[in-house]
Amino acid sequence: MFVTNQWYVIAYARDIGPEPFSRTVCGKRILVYRKQDGSVTAMRDACPHRLLPLSMGIKEGDNIRCRYHGLVLDADGRAVEMPIKSDPVNRSICAAKYPVVERYQFIWVWIGEPAKADPALVPDYWMCEDPGWVFDGGSYHVRCNYQLLVDNLMDLTHETYVHEGSIGQPELMQSPITSRVEGDRVIVERWMHDVPPAPAYRTSPDQENVDRWQICHFLPPSSVIIDVGVAPVSEGWSLENHPVRSFVIDAITPETETTSWYYWGAARGVDIGNAERTARTKMLQGKVFAEDIAVLEAQQQSIEDNPDLKLRAFNIDAGGVRSRTIIRKMAQRDGAAAAMDASDAEQELA
Ligand code: FES
Ligand SMILES: [Fe+2]
Repeated sequence: MFVTNQWYVIAYARDIGPEPFSRTVCGKRILVYRKQDGSVTAMRDACPHRLLPLSMGIKEGDNIRCRYHGLVLDADGRAVEMPIKSDPVNRSICAAKYPVVERYQFIWVWIGEPAKADPALVPDYWMCEDPGWVFDGGSYHVRCNYQLLVDNLMDLTHETYVHEGSIGQPELMQSPITSRVEGDRVIVERWMHDVPPAPAYRTSPDQENVDRWQICHFLPPSSVIIDVGVAPVSEGWSLENHPVRSFVIDAITPETETTSWYYWGAARGVDIGNAERTARTKMLQGKVFAEDIAVLEAQQQSIEDNPDLKLRAFNIDAGGVRSRTIIRKMAQRDGAAAAMDASDAEQELA
């Protein structure tokens, strides 16, 4: 089950140049490359002749020549030269073209109905391109269904155990978590008042207590932006632009039913010229998310190994369950409902 009429990240913009780049999105292998005018094109990565991946082909200006029999397609996926050069070109031969948008430092593709591909629907990652903010991140290939990643990011209770040595701290389990739905967004938040700083936030061994917040925003179909930070207790409960406030960026792209691409990073609005700090944040974040991935891949394997067992939801899973409900409604709208296990999305909170 995939929500198809949505934009998904296929790559960081920085990784796309004139050379062919191929990645599978929602079960479809897609070729992207940058044209000479700087714009990006996306098409099905299968030659319309014998289906050899076009990404194995040879770039000729903005065109691509299949490496099997030499059919040449233009950047819109239409044939412009047949294998026998003197043969008349059959313009009905083409690779399907996909709508593509470059925004917020990512390349987004739309794998549903092209007529519905409205660029205004790209999830709002404003902090990734606002000139007053700095953003950097990486990506991981993860062997789990994308909804397990959404569950994980909308769940603020796993840090104590999964991230014990970085962002976890015992006080996390003593602070209440609330969740709510606002339109098609789900928000999960926790405020911790007057707590010792977690290892990742500690700047000295005898540092004073802080106020710490975590506010997770689920943006359908598979984005999670987490507003995180700490402030001196004396400053009170505030989301003002504090030096340790940042946004954790999580854009998840389903690859297959059991694999995903996870594009992660962090954005901050202070000290934005400090490249060393940006690099350190990225390195630490990469370690934290690697801790999640170890758990998620083991969870996916266990789900496959235990087909007679179902996921259960406790009240700590409210954020993930509510996100799944929104995903399911979108899939229904796309006509994919029959393929989706409704009971999975409508778990009773126990
Ligand atoms: S498979 Fe591409 S030209 Fe034959
Ligand atoms: Fe985590």
